[in-house]
Amino acid sequence: MQTFSHPIELLRTRRSLKPVELTGPGPSPADLDTLLTIASRVPDHGKLIPWRFVVFEGDGRRKAGEAIAAAFLAKYPDAKPEQVEFERNRLARAPLVVAVVSRAAPHVKIPEWEQVLSSGAAAMSLVVAAHALGFGATWITEWYSYDRAVLDALGLAPHEKITGFVHIGRPAQAPEDRPRPALADIVTRFK
Ligand SMILES: Cc1cc2nc3c(=O)[nH]c(=O)nc-3n(C[C@H](O)[C@H](O)[C@H](O)COP(=O)(O)O)c2cc1C
Repeated sequence: MQTFSHPIELLRTRRSLKPVELTGPGPSPADLDTLLTIASRVPDHGKLIPWRFVVFEGDGRRKAGEAIAAAFLAKYPDAKPEQVEFERNRLARAPLVVAVVSRAAPHVKIPEWEQVLSSGAAAMSLVVAAHALGFGATWITEWYSYDRAVLDALGLAPHEKITGFVHIGRPAQAPEDRPRPALADIVTRFK
């Protein structure tokens, strides 16, 4: 397992990898249990648990890909076979994909916005936990997160939304960092 001299180093160095840069072996069942337990440990106003997880592993990734490819073909009937194959392979690029699903809904006390934020926190905790276990991860949505036919095929209820498909695997190589915002541009002091 990758070790960090201090937990802050994990957070300081974390960055996403592309799905194709994530190779096997993926998380073991025990690793996955750890990852999802940590992803569930996030601030949640009202304890509504306004999120859930769908795990795609092995053949399940390709089966979901069939739904993505079918929706793609319905939108673009003239698509080339290689384009359709690319769509079919979407969730099969990394060894493991976890869909974080938002279950946010109107509530008498807790604003829906806060439920959505909690779901984002779950996705981010999942990404950070994957890095802490020595995996690479990336949080993506892409067009199929917003396609009703795909959401139906994946079992999402009408009010549920994809917060993200978190792809997890072994980093093939260390990624280059990307520019980060200068704090001077985003921090103000209220006086
Ligand atoms: C909600 C959400 C959805 C995203 N969807 C995509 C996507 O569909 N495709 C993509 O290339 N990146 C997407 N990203 C960005 C990736 O997570 C990207 O890898 C990340 O911004 C890289 O920054 P990092 O190295 O700090 O993780 C998304 C990010 C968020 C928060």
